[in-house]
Parts: sequence; C-alpha cells; structure tokens
Amino acid sequence: MIEQILSYIATNKERYLNELKSFLAIPSISTTTENVSDVKRCAEWVANHLKNVGMANVKIMPTGGHPVVYADWLGAPGKPTLLIYGHYDVQPVDPVDLWTYPPFEATIKGSKLFARGATDDKGQLFIHFKAIEAYLKNVGKLPINIKLLIEGEEEIGSKHLPKFVMENKKLLKADLIAISDTSMFAEGVPSVCYGLRGLSYLQIDVVGPNRDLHSGSFGGTVHNPIQALSEIIAQLHDKNGKVNIPGFYDSVRPLTRKERQLYKELPWCDQRYARSLGVKELYGEKGYSTLERLWARPTLECNGIWGGFIGDGAKTVLPSKASAKISMRLVPDQKAGRVAKLVEQYVKKITPKTVSLSVRYLHGGEPAIISIESPGIQAAVVALQKGFGKKPLYQREGGSIPIVVQFKRILGLDTVLFGFGLPYENAHAPDEFLNLNNFFGGIRAVAHYYNELPRYMVMKGNK
Ligand code: BES
Ligand code: MN
Ligand code: MN
Repeated sequence: MIEQILSYIATNKERYLNELKSFLAIPSISTTTENVSDVKRCAEWVANHLKNVGMANVKIMPTGGHPVVYADWLGAPGKPTLLIYGHYDVQPVDPVDLWTYPPFEATIKGSKLFARGATDDKGQLFIHFKAIEAYLKNVGKLPINIKLLIEGEEEIGSKHLPKFVMENKKLLKADLIAISDTSMFAEGVPSVCYGLRGLSYLQIDVVGPNRDLHSGSFGGTVHNPIQALSEIIAQLHDKNGKVNIPGFYDSVRPLTRKERQLYKELPWCDQRYARSLGVKELYGEKGYSTLERLWARPTLECNGIWGGFIGDGAKTVLPSKASAKISMRLVPDQKAGRVAKLVEQYVKKITPKTVSLSVRYLHGGEPAIISIESPGIQAAVVALQKGFGKKPLYQREGGSIPIVVQFKRILGLDTVLFGFGLPYENAHAPDEFLNLNNFFGGIRAVAHYYNELPRYMVMKGNK
C-alpha cells in the first residue's frame, strides 16, 4: 500500500504546491486587530480543504479568541488514534520593505518557497494535510485514526487553547500527539525533537519626571529614565553571560552526561555559525557549548527598548518615560510565573529612588522535555529514515510551543515533535521561506509515520 501512496505524492507535487500557495495567500496574522477577518477566513479555508481531502467531522469551533479547526477520520477501529496539532496563524510581516518577495504572494525560487507562514507553520501543517489526502483519495482509508486540532493563536501564546482542550477532552481523546512545527538539524538531515524551551514575557516601564523636559533647562537635575532603564538592564547579566537574578537557575535541570555527549557528536561549527549570523564572535553563558546554550540553558533577552526621541534629526529632550520588553527562555523545571516573579523582585530591588518602575506580565509557556524511549518517537525515527533516506538525529529546540505541556497535563498525552523547517528559514522575519525538498520529504515521512505507528504502539502494549 505504501508504494501506491508514495507514487500518488510524486504525481501530485505541482497541485500540492499550488494549493499551499493559496493557503499562504491569506494574511492570518493573529496579533493585529485589522486581520481578525483574515484569520477567520483562513480557518474557513482550512476547514474547507480538510473536507476536500476526505476528513470527516470537520468543524470550526469558537474560543474566546480566534477559532480552532477540528477534524477527524476514525475509520480504523482497534488502531491507534493520533492527534495532530498545528497552527494556521502567522506573525506580522513588518518591516515589510525588507521582503524581497511579497509576503502573501508565495514565490518559488529554485528549491525555496518564499511567503509568511511558509515554514511556520502553514507549510509544515500542510505536509500532514497532503499525506492524509494521499491515503484517503487513493486507497480510501488511513492506517490509523486521525484527529486534527489546528489553532489560530499560537503566535500570541495560545491564550484560549488550554481552556478549549479542557472543555473538549472527550473529543480530543487520543493515544499520542504529533506536531510538525520545529526544525530539522540541516537540509536533508531530519530530526526528532525531544525538548522545547518555555517562555516568560514581561514589559518594564520606567517613569521619571512627570513630563518631557528641555534637556538644557533640566538636564543634570533628574535621572533620565532611559539611562535608569539601561542601568537596570545592564545588571541583568554578569561578566560570564549568566543571568544575574537570584534564584533564576534554582530549578534548572542539569544536562545529563549522555546529552552533552550527544550534542558533541552533532556536526556543528561555531565559526561557521557566527559567520552565517554576521557576528565576529559568539556570546553566551560560559561553560556551555553553543548547542547546549541554545537548547538546554535558560536565557534572558531584551526584545525591544524605547523612549524619548527616535524620529529623524535631533531633538534635545529629557524624556519622562522609557520601556523595555524582556523575555526569558526557560528550560525544565523552571516555571514561567515563578521566573517572572523573580525578575520582577530583582528589578524592583535595583531600581534607584530617582525613578519609578512597573512590571507587566504579557504571556508565557512552560518548557517541555519528552522521553526519547516513547514508542511514538521510535516510530518517528523509522518514518523519517524512510522519508528522507537518512537517519534522523535527536535534538532539542530553543523555541517554544506552550500547548505541549498542557496536552500532557490535561489529556495525559505525550507529544512527538518532528518538524520539517530549517533554523535559517527566516521564521518571524522578512523573506521567510520553506525548502521544498524538505516539504516533499516531509510528506513522504509523515505518510510512513501513519503507516508505522500501529506496529510501535502495539509493540509496547499501548493499544
Ligand atoms: N514554531 C515556533 C516554535 C519554535 C521556534 C520551535 C523555533 C522550534 C524552533 C512557534 O510558532 C513560535 O514561534 N513560538 C513562540 C511561542 C510564544 C509566542 C509563546 C516562540 O517560541 O517565540
Ligand atoms: Mn510555529
Ligand atoms: Mn512562530
């Protein structure tokens, strides 16, 4: 049967790409109010497409925010049920003049498909749609039961999804969860991801004088809030690149010796990495390799800082306010809320009396780590090997998918993460793209995954 599926995929490549282009044409930006109707239209596009590929029970379900699309096909009694999660929302496109190609008119150049959402996550989600189609349109059935849960708020922290999952436990009942929203290690080198970092996001506002002041008439008499904020931010790291907040590392799970060995064996070159990013030298916490710092150590970053005069020309002003967006990437067993509290306590403690400071918690998500012995992961290893003709690697990721931990907590289910993006495909940035060889390799690998899964889940006596 699998040969027939693979040849269906091979003969329909052109059409698959054209359909993906129309999915990518919808500006489903979840964070902006002016795109609310586009997000809704995108949910409708997904629902409609899933009906066309042969999924049963397709529904658009409301949440407190953007809608969820649900669909299932449950025609394989006695076989495992796989719940596939993905997101149809995308990040904003600004600065739009830095795009070489229009973000919502997908453009193919060689083996790259350029568009917002190409790699994160529409292109990767579409891989599953097309593997499902290859079964349902060709042989009329799937080797497993499939449920799809596709949300429109991942890029804004999945605010309403935990409640949705809680309220729809029965509908979402499954044996395992699969997500394709991460990266492969390198082109043609597939990987299984067994860990994600979490996130805790804050805004800090510093207020000095009660109004903007003439910097000549008042300069030298009050603390400039931009300076005060900079002094605070400068105290958040020490000389060794460590986060300088008391208690920050307290619940960090140390890397195991096995993991450190594993990362050491991966093909990696610091110099090449630095060059590709245009920096002379890398920076980070002393005592850890680049991959360790990226995947298994927590960080604190300033995402943005503003205040005062930033227009053209020069204006002599001593501003009243300055602000910064600060986020922490977390690793097991740190907790987003707890870390936010620690940061808040510390910055308040070091705030000089000359200004006042307030901290606002914007959103967060917990870090995740998954046992690589789980049967779902073993099936993924075999499927990726078959789809790409190359043995996959085990890796973690520096990014976050907040719902993974909630799935475990609410549904009691493990998640298998196998993504088909690449780390340098400009996700969240101008000129986002997807490597088309990985797209088609992904469809083949996912088709194999559906086919392999029953054997592995049975082997371990799970079903
Ligand atoms: N697909 C990414 C998560 C990701 C990024 C996985 C990099 C692996 C590597 C996801 O869409 C994303 O961007 N998540 C946000 C979560 C946040 C908004 C809570 C992130 O990581 O910043
Ligand atoms: Mn994503
Ligand atoms: Mn994203």
